[in-house]
Formats: sequence, structure tokens, C-alpha cells
Amino acid sequence: MGVTVGPVGDDRAAEYLAAMGQAFGFDSSDEHRERFSKYFEWDRARAAYDGDRIVGTLGAYSFEMTVPGGTMPCGGTTVVAVLPTHRRRGVLRQMIESHFEDVRERGEPIAGLWASESSIYGRFGYGIAAVGLDVEVDRDHVDLHRLAPRAAPARLVSREEAMDLFPPFYDRERRLRPGFFARSPSWWEFRRFHDSEPSREGATAFRYAVTEENGVVTGFAQYRFKEKWREGHGQGTVLVHELLGSTPESWAGLWSLVLNHDLTARIRADNRSVDDPLFGLLAAPRRARTTVDDSLWIKVLDVRRALEGRAYSASVSAVVGLHDPTDATTTTWRLDLSPDGAEVTPADSDPQVEMDMEDLGACFLGRARFTALAAAGRIRGDLSVVRALEAAFTWSPRPWCPEVF
Ligand SMILES: CC(C)(COP(=O)(O)OP(=O)(O)OC[C@H]1O[C@@H](n2cnc3c(N)ncnc32)[C@H](O)[C@@H]1OP(=O)(O)O)[C@@H](O)C(=O)NCCC(=O)NCCS
Repeated sequence: MGVTVGPVGDDRAAEYLAAMGQAFGFDSSDEHRERFSKYFEWDRARAAYDGDRIVGTLGAYSFEMTVPGGTMPCGGTTVVAVLPTHRRRGVLRQMIESHFEDVRERGEPIAGLWASESSIYGRFGYGIAAVGLDVEVDRDHVDLHRLAPRAAPARLVSREEAMDLFPPFYDRERRLRPGFFARSPSWWEFRRFHDSEPSREGATAFRYAVTEENGVVTGFAQYRFKEKWREGHGQGTVLVHELLGSTPESWAGLWSLVLNHDLTARIRADNRSVDDPLFGLLAAPRRARTTVDDSLWIKVLDVRRALEGRAYSASVSAVVGLHDPTDATTTTWRLDLSPDGAEVTPADSDPQVEMDMEDLGACFLGRARFTALAAAGRIRGDLSVVRALEAAFTWSPRPWCPEVF
């Protein structure tokens, strides 16, 4: 009997998490299972069954995702795993097809995910919509630039205070930043503020800090400190979990706090935005060593609603052919996009530009450049139209997804 895909309830949570653990390499505990069920949407979960046995998992979060100029429902594809005994038999493909059906039925124009390998999801039409920078700065090179603003004083707060102060600030900020998504109270409690001993990996519990102006929060930082001594000298590391400002002074204040920690040798901050103010704040920005990784991948599932649901920086009218590799179909669309609004309609004329859904996903939040993909031979057609599309899709701020899901 072949493998079938269907729903799964929290009554099978232990088996579900055990299957995920086989694929990802962790052992789930009772505590983990209980916490997972606080934010996981069991009504959207899919399992692949061999007989009655779970051999694959795929879930979805109902996100409100920020896109250029607004927000949009997004199916957050997650916990994708297939048992090592059942890999490369098309189980993932079956689960993805079932997931796309669910996303479409719920009226979510896009799906998004973080990929464990960058070679898996393009074939399903997901494209790299955002990248993140892993940054490491030596403590000896943290002087601020001569033009850096006054650093707002940071105030250390308790976990309880942070739980009151961070969410409303985040909720204001996330609406401005493509790639951010709304966080529910349980998401905050059981994911962002989760701080069990094993998750610390030898570092301290979280430290929390805010900057404020006239009693209003202008930024927050959440970080750990990992102690280390060598020949009597402190050689610790500050590990930044999240750091978000909203004014030049708040960015300067929060970065100064974590950069100037005593008894440290280095500061590490993973998955930072490509336009993080840190690089403008440092006197010697090259000292901030960076590695770039893909972060959020987006698949456009409803072309009209997705493209009409975001804002544009310039006007373009174009006929575009879009190939979806999932079902090997090509559809042609007339795009009339402008800063005043967008109209997207099916077209029956020949396309001026042709591209894969993967490349539309990569450009959707304004990260990838149409001209760069054309230079790589992936987008084909009239170059003047390619340039005009690029000018329309470009957006500031650049997309950033601050959290792995
Ligand atoms: C990645 C994983 C889910 C793939 O599941 P699977 O059932 O073996 O995948 P399928 O057989 O349905 O493969 C679908 C397609 O993806 C490709 N593919 C699958 N895994 C891949 C990988 N790791 N790298 C590159 N391509 C991969 C297959 O070759 C196949 O391509 P094709 O249809 O063009 O021939 C599974 O190997 C796994 O659980 N890995 C560990 C956990 C993990 O990485 N999860 C992903 C989290 S984002």
C-alpha cells in the first residue's frame, strides 16, 4: 500500500513529534510536546501515513505577513519532515500538494518557509524572498562612527516587564517591515520568551533591555551572555537573540549596550537585516564580519491577490508569463502596477517577459533584482520591461524575517 496524506490531531502529538525528531535530530520530551501544542495549529497539520503509521509531517501557521505597503495572509509552511526509511519516494511532494490546497482554500495568496537546504523548495515555486546576515564583531572594534547619534540610554528589565513592553512595540514596527509577521500572545510566551536550561547551551538566561522616549518604548534587545575565561581575562560572548530599534538613538543605544559588555571578546548576532543600522554605526564596519544566508522563502499561490495586495515604487504595465513548476502550468498575466494601486488580470496576448514562480517569489518582497535574474538567464524577454518591473517591485526597507519558523 502506498503512502497517503491526511489530517492529524493532537492526540497523536507524541508520534508526530517523534517523526519530526527522527528527521531533524532531536528527542521530544513531555515538556516540549506540551509547549509545542501551545502555538502549533493542529487543525492545519498534515501527516503522511504508511498504513496507520506516521512517516511524514508538514504543518502551517496562519500568519499575517508584512509585504510592501501592507499586510497579507500567509500560510507559514513548517515542520516538514519525512522518516529516513521513506525518503525520496515523493512523500514531501504529496504533502506539499495537500498543503497548497489548504492554503488556497483559506484564501492565503502566499505561503512562506525557512528551508533546511536551499536546493529543496525552488522546484515547488518558492523563491528566496529575504536573506539574513550572521554578524560577529570583536570587542576591540566596537567604537561608534564619528557621525553616530546620541545613544539612547538602555534600561534592563525583568522577563515580566519585557513580556509587557516588547509585544506592543513589535506590533507597531512589524507593519513597516516586509517579511515580519504578527505574533500571538502564545507565540510570544512559548517561543520568543521560552528560556529553558537546554536552550541556553551554556549561556545565561535571557537578558532584556528597552530604550524609551517620553515613556514610550523605542526599541528592545534580548540577549544572552556566555562566560569564558582565559589566563585570568574575560573572553565571553554576547549572543543577541533579537534587537530592534525604531529611531537612530534607539539603534545606537541598543547596539552600544550589547557591543560594550564587559568581560567579552566578541558579540554575535545572527540573522540580521541587510540594512541593519549597525553597519552605519560602527567606526570600522569591516570589523563586523558577516555571512549571508537565505531566510524567508515565498511561494505565490494566488497571483492576482498577491500582486494586487502589495504596493509599488514605480509604474509598469507588462504582460508576464509565469511558470509554476509544481504542476507544470504556465499562465499569462497583464500587470498594471503603480504607486497608486495595482490591477492584475489574465491575458491572452504573448508575454513580454517570462519567469518561474520561484523568481516571482524571490522578487515579491523586493529582495531579488529582476535584472540579476535575467542576467542569470532565469528571467527572459524584453529587457526594458524587466528593468521597469524591477523599479516597481523595489522597496525600502529591504525584507527581513527576524525569526526562524
Ligand atoms: C527534505 C525531506 C522532507 C524530503 O522528503 P522526501 O519525501 O524525501 O522528498 P520527495 O521524495 O518528495 O522529493 C521531492 C523532490 O525534492 C527533491 N529533494 C528532496 N530532498 C532534497 C534535498 N535534501 N536536497 C535536494 N533535493 C531534495 C527530490 O529529489 C525530489 O525532486 P524531484 O521531484 O524533482 O525528483 C526529507 O529528506 C527530510 O525529512 N529531511 C530532513 C528534515 C528536513 O530537512 N526537512 C526540511 C525542513 S525545511
